[in-house]
Amino acid sequence: MGHILFSPTTVADHGGTVDLVGLAPVGVRPENQNEGVGSLLIQHGLAKCRDAGVDAVVVLGDRAYYSQFGFEEASEYGLGNEYGADEGFMVKPLHEGALDGVDGTVAYQPEFQQPEN
Ligand SMILES: CC(C)(COP(=O)(O)OP(=O)(O)OC[C@H]1O[C@@H](n2cnc3c(N)ncnc32)[C@H](O)[C@@H]1OP(=O)(O)O)[C@@H](O)C(=O)NCCC(=O)NCCS
Repeated sequence: MGHILFSPTTVADHGGTVDLVGLAPVGVRPENQNEGVGSLLIQHGLAKCRDAGVDAVVVLGDRAYYSQFGFEEASEYGLGNEYGADEGFMVKPLHEGALDGVDGTVAYQPEFQQPEN
């Protein structure tokens, strides 16, 4: 009916250790969209990440959709991305102070990168 994946990311230029994962992709079969499945996958996924000790989750997507789950503009935390996308790159800290002292460019796994020309 639906699918969600969280994968580890790294923050370039950051000396400390932060456990940051990227939410992508999430998808729901067209015939099951707008029935709350996507919301359940995201809420349950975030809870599992928190239980696993993850510090924060990033996502690149629609601000209106993801803000309802507590995602905020990542740039406000000093976090950028490799895709040159300012708008729509968001982060959700999973505990108080999760991103204190953390800033830099977030890199997803190689599977999410475009081949270089
Ligand atoms: C985005 C997606 C996962 C949402 O799942 P869903 O089960 O349909 O969503 P829910 O039922 O939990 O929530 C529905 C609400 O989200 C809104 N919504 C759905 N997709 C949206 C989007 N891309 N941008 C903004 N709002 C969106 C709907 O308008 C609806 O709003 P309402 O509650 O005010 O009526 C699903 O629409 C989907 O699979 N889309 C195609 C793949 C995709 O774009 N994935 C995200 C990028 S990887």
